[in-house]
Amino acid sequence: MRLVMTRRIESGTVLATDVLTGRHGTPLLRKGTQLSTSYRDALVRAGVNAVYVDDALGEGIDVPQILTERTRQEATSALAQAFRAAPTVFGGEKTKMAPQLVEELERIAAMIASDVADCGDAVLALADLASSDLYTLQHSIDVTALGLLIGQRIFREKGWIDYRGQRSYEHIDKKLAQLGLGLLLHDIGKLAIPSDVLNKPDKLDDEEWQLIRQHPITGLELLPSNMISAVSKTVIRSHHERWDGRGYPDGKYGTEIHQFARIAAVADVYDAVTSERPYRDAAPAHIGVGVVLEGAGTAFDPEIIETFLRLVPPYPPGIEVTLDDGRSGVVAHVAPPRLDRPTVRIALEADGRQVTPYEVNLLDEPDLLIVDDSCSPLRLHRERPRWPVAAA
Ligand SMILES: [Fe+2]
Repeated sequence: MRLVMTRRIESGTVLATDVLTGRHGTPLLRKGTQLSTSYRDALVRAGVNAVYVDDALGEGIDVPQILTERTRQEATSALAQAFRAAPTVFGGEKTKMAPQLVEELERIAAMIASDVADCGDAVLALADLASSDLYTLQHSIDVTALGLLIGQRIFREKGWIDYRGQRSYEHIDKKLAQLGLGLLLHDIGKLAIPSDVLNKPDKLDDEEWQLIRQHPITGLELLPSNMISAVSKTVIRSHHERWDGRGYPDGKYGTEIHQFARIAAVADVYDAVTSERPYRDAAPAHIGVGVVLEGAGTAFDPEIIETFLRLVPPYPPGIEVTLDDGRSGVVAHVAPPRLDRPTVRIALEADGRQVTPYEVNLLDEPDLLIVDDSCSPLRLHRERPRWPVAAA
């Protein structure tokens, strides 16, 4: 399968994954659907900017999805319920989230943790193609999956760090479940922020900025404190702290910030950069990886970044890329440890000629570089040549 811009889809192309929209997590279109122009237009209207399709060029390209469709649907539905309940508690007094809802979210966090455990050594592919109106919901789910992927690897290789600062390799599953619940709920306090402030494309004024900085603490106030572990709460409270002490709400510094919150900070920023927002396009994966890498030692714990780079490929399978010699194609395969040197299936020569696809392994061609995102399907404002599309 491969990722294509929705607007460039040709009639007869087959969807390779379910396309989710709506607050109940129900698919707008199912995997296997043959797309007509009216389906394509409906997807564009729904704000779905790119979809995975099965066609000749993407044949045999495996795009590992960390979460099963069932997990994503159940998580979307449970979080939507939690988020729907929240606005009724605002307007003066804050009421705690119902205990049953917290239990349901614990179950969902465990489901996501189990999907992440099942995916073994898989690297992250782009999952979030949802429209921006679903941002908070899908963002919370994707941050949970990515944070757990990082957490699982770090806890197994280096241990989780307890409140005394000591590393431990015991009860890793329990610790991942606690991390997962914190990640799922990390932004729940944003529900208290008016959406025109949250989605404001311009610079925030002081008052608006204060509101934003309040959301980690507001989130904690919404939760029944006796039902949630201290470490899950720390994830919620401290996910905007920075390694250099310039974060909020407490301005904690370095290892003063709980390890779980340091993991959440990385997952949160990567997903925010690579997600569609009302005021900007989604950035491609390599930009997200670049932003995280730039923040190593300033915004983020370098040890976590080292693990992140072994899990998140800058050019994931299925994505369109251009090489610096002018040829273009689709990433066919990404292999650890060099996630930045994928195998590319070439479809267009430098002069724009379509060719029978052939593969180039960038590990064998050290001089070849991938040049930016000029043909990323997520960049809607640039027109690119059409790929030879054949219905599978
Ligand atoms: Fe946040």
